[in-house]
Amino acid sequence: MNESCHKSAEMAITGDGTPTLMVPEYSEAMHSSSGAYEEALLKHVKPSRVLELESGSISVLDIGFGIGYNLLALLFEASLSPLKKKLRIISCEFERTYHQHMKTIRFNDRRDEQYAKLAKLYADGYYCDGQIDAVMLFGDARNHALSFSGMDFDAVFHDPFSPSKNPELWSVEFFKAIRRGINEHGILTTYSSAFQARGAMIEAGFRIAGGPSVGGKREGTLASVFGKLDYFCNDEISKIVLNPKSVPYRDMGLSCTREEIREHRKTEMKERKALKQVI
Ligand SMILES: C[S@@+](CC[C@H](N)C(=O)[O-])C[C@H]1O[C@@H](n2cnc3c(N)ncnc32)[C@H](O)[C@@H]1O
Repeated sequence: MNESCHKSAEMAITGDGTPTLMVPEYSEAMHSSSGAYEEALLKHVKPSRVLELESGSISVLDIGFGIGYNLLALLFEASLSPLKKKLRIISCEFERTYHQHMKTIRFNDRRDEQYAKLAKLYADGYYCDGQIDAVMLFGDARNHALSFSGMDFDAVFHDPFSPSKNPELWSVEFFKAIRRGINEHGILTTYSSAFQARGAMIEAGFRIAGGPSVGGKREGTLASVFGKLDYFCNDEISKIVLNPKSVPYRDMGLSCTREEIREHRKTEMKERKALKQVI
């Protein structure tokens, strides 16, 4: 996770005409090839239902700012509403070098006005006007996890790289930290339907539901405590937790290396298999 890795990060145009960033460190693109902005809007902002809330002020935690599309979709959708809701945003991002890419991105429509605010947020670490109050927490999001507690988030856009590549943000302990920050009706959105991700959310105390499937990709996952979601029924939850792949990542102390987190899961999977054979 250093600057040299991202010197070779490359932009690629996705199906909806918006660019994404291919990041060699993870061998992954930041967004779906079917449409980067579309993914932000349809997999995060819309299913979070955060702009449908009646309160005049909403609070959002954004995990993995990247090049800022999830927040762009939030700001742009909010700008279309006659109700000028106040937006309180906390965004976490490890990398400080994406500005070089952000400054080349143009939408050539009214999104550019909102994107300029996000470029400022990324450059200065905060952005504040009458409507938006946003802060960037740079560095490993796990180091900020204690500060999530009691923040009363209405939505969490959970958008790291894939669980196998970025396991530190998909662990039971990280989801527990989010659970302590999200309010009871708040909705966490994510693009992943991986068993280990769902297993971790369940163990962290969330109830889960299928998220939208966009661009022919697999469905995502939505999580909440009491939010309005079409939750999986008990049978579906049993199928998830009984699947050997649902053994979650664990990260005691939120400080293990990726390799340690992956190894720990492999060991736990072997132990569960052995136990099953004995029973
Ligand atoms: C899939 S991209 C996010 C895309 C972004 N949401 C957007 O809309 O453009 C994942 C992001 O998570 C960041 N990330 C990965 N591990 C992290 C960590 N431990 N702490 C904070 N950010 C992390 C990566 O640097 C990357 O920018």
